[in-house]
Amino acid sequence: MSSLALEVESSSKPKHRPLTRWVDQVAQMCKPDRIHWCDGSAEEYQALQRLMTLSGIAIPLDPEKRPNSILVRSDPGDVARVEDRTFICSRSQEDAGPTNNWEDPAKMKEKLTELFTGSMAGRTLYVIPYSMGPIGSPIAKIGVEITDSPYVVVNMHIMARVGTHVLDVFGEDAEFVRGLHSIGAPLAPNQQDSTWPCNKGQKYICHFPETREILSYGSGYGGNALLGKKCHALRIASVQARDEGWMAEHMLILKLTNPAGESKYMTGAFPSACGKTNLAMLIPTLPGWKVETIGDDIAWMKFGADGRLYAINPEAGFFGVAPGTGMKSNLNAMLTVNKNSIFTNCAMTPDGDVWWESMTEDKPAELVDWLRRPWTPNSGRKAAHPNARFTTPAGQCPAIAPEWEDPKGVPIDAILFGGRRAGVVPLVIEAFNWQHGTFLGATASSETTAATTGKVGQLRRDPMAMLPFCGYHMGDYFAHWLKIGKHAPVSKLPQIYYVNWFRQDESGKFLWPGYGDNSRVLKWIFERCDGNALAQDTPVGRVPARGELDLDGIHMPAENMEKLLHVETKDWLAEVPLIKEHFAKFGTRLPEGLQTELAALVDRLKSDKQ
Ligand code: GTP
Ligand code: SPV
Ligand code: MN
Repeated sequence: MSSLALEVESSSKPKHRPLTRWVDQVAQMCKPDRIHWCDGSAEEYQALQRLMTLSGIAIPLDPEKRPNSILVRSDPGDVARVEDRTFICSRSQEDAGPTNNWEDPAKMKEKLTELFTGSMAGRTLYVIPYSMGPIGSPIAKIGVEITDSPYVVVNMHIMARVGTHVLDVFGEDAEFVRGLHSIGAPLAPNQQDSTWPCNKGQKYICHFPETREILSYGSGYGGNALLGKKCHALRIASVQARDEGWMAEHMLILKLTNPAGESKYMTGAFPSACGKTNLAMLIPTLPGWKVETIGDDIAWMKFGADGRLYAINPEAGFFGVAPGTGMKSNLNAMLTVNKNSIFTNCAMTPDGDVWWESMTEDKPAELVDWLRRPWTPNSGRKAAHPNARFTTPAGQCPAIAPEWEDPKGVPIDAILFGGRRAGVVPLVIEAFNWQHGTFLGATASSETTAATTGKVGQLRRDPMAMLPFCGYHMGDYFAHWLKIGKHAPVSKLPQIYYVNWFRQDESGKFLWPGYGDNSRVLKWIFERCDGNALAQDTPVGRVPARGELDLDGIHMPAENMEKLLHVETKDWLAEVPLIKEHFAKFGTRLPEGLQTELAALVDRLKSDKQ
């Protein structure tokens, strides 16, 4: 193998002393064979792609079909985020709260030092300086990830702004988030490497919120390993946001334009694999309406001088769920992944392309599945892993909004919460006010998906879709939301909505067509924000008044609409003890405003029943 441009001690080594000292210390502990400072260049990306291909980690796809793209298959034991191995190591256990795993920071560091010692033997240590958010944006933050995985480096190239130019922001002393990642698979001299090295037995995804550090060991997959994403931009950033008066949320950001050419920006918090990417890129079925994408997973929001909340997408790419993505359901995503993309745990076609469930209407006659086995439609199993993903540059999305990298962000008119609920929750509810909206977010529930290890389809409370991502006590997080609502006059605050695309009929079929037809709900929200659409009060919030949801040209039985918007008092009364149980976990840290909302909900439900 060529001595790879990687060994060059590049000019990208910075003047920032605390950074270079930290890298030296890590290198002494992890004992890599080489150190490479990433410059973020296209040449570096190509060199790493070549390295991964030569060593059998990656398969280049047919350049005619998907130029500059690779397929990577992970270890079957390393396919998703590992929530039970994720820790918030705040000094006090109380600060991590009841929804996070906690360990004493000193104890955890001692344990991890043991694991990291010699963990990079035989490997290259890559230093990745990155910016979350457009470089120079007042909302953006910088970080450095050290990793021994070339797969992580190429993914970070796409997902964040990486490289030498970022170091200008560092100067000689800027604050930055430190992320240390090792797959935990040192190589003995002459040991044959595997195609997805990781540590089968020990995985730790640890956060030290007070010192803004991340230590991740043993996994090479997604949110466990791409530390700019969930670890930095949500868990650490949520703590910074609390301290500094802003918001770090698991939200898509979209721009919606009506036929008159007026635009509004909306964010939406849905749990993992519950439709953010799809909503952010949707193609409206309503003529004249347009959706453009700003972000598909994370939003950082700060108040602007005009008192409104402005959001940026801290990421530069999409790490999207592949299965379910097709020309019909999400054309924009399909066009985005046409080139320069990384595919993980997808199936491969005989002619060197990728495939996943529902990508095409007809299944290919033969494939190699994500576990490298021959596959046919009669195999009786899925060809791609349900959490197979594409990593693709956001700038390639045909629907990307021209202002997606505007350093000041975009002003938000509406915030949507959502989840997967087969029953009970109507298609859309408007909150009465910010406090009630916070209550809707805080009590949101959803069925679990393949984005995290563990059982799929289990109903759980996932407040603001942040259950796995809040870096501190969830009760304090609710209080932070309420505080944000007091920071600005009501007229400047976004309106809050709760949506559910996943309500089913008695036979388990989705009542709502979803995808592009979700534009109908977005239209109602848009017009509500301007006071141009009517709503009807229910005990749980406001639903569209009869006839107010635009159903022109929809392919759906009429009675479905009744069922979709129906609020069944007895079902909601049955939710109350579950909400009480959920709230009880937060003890004295549950803000009073939410107790007030719960009591008010009970009152409204009871008077509705009479
Ligand atoms: P993360 O990247 O894990 O945070 O997920 P996400 O919220 O971006 O989820 P995504 O948009 O990738 O959707 C995940 C799954 O939900 C896919 O299988 C989609 O096909 C399905 N989905 C998305 N929108 C809809 C919808 O409106 N209706 C239905 N029935 N399914 C949907
Ligand atoms: C999620 O699980 O919410 C994701 C994928 O967006 S990951 O980056 O693995 O967290
Ligand atoms: Mn996500």
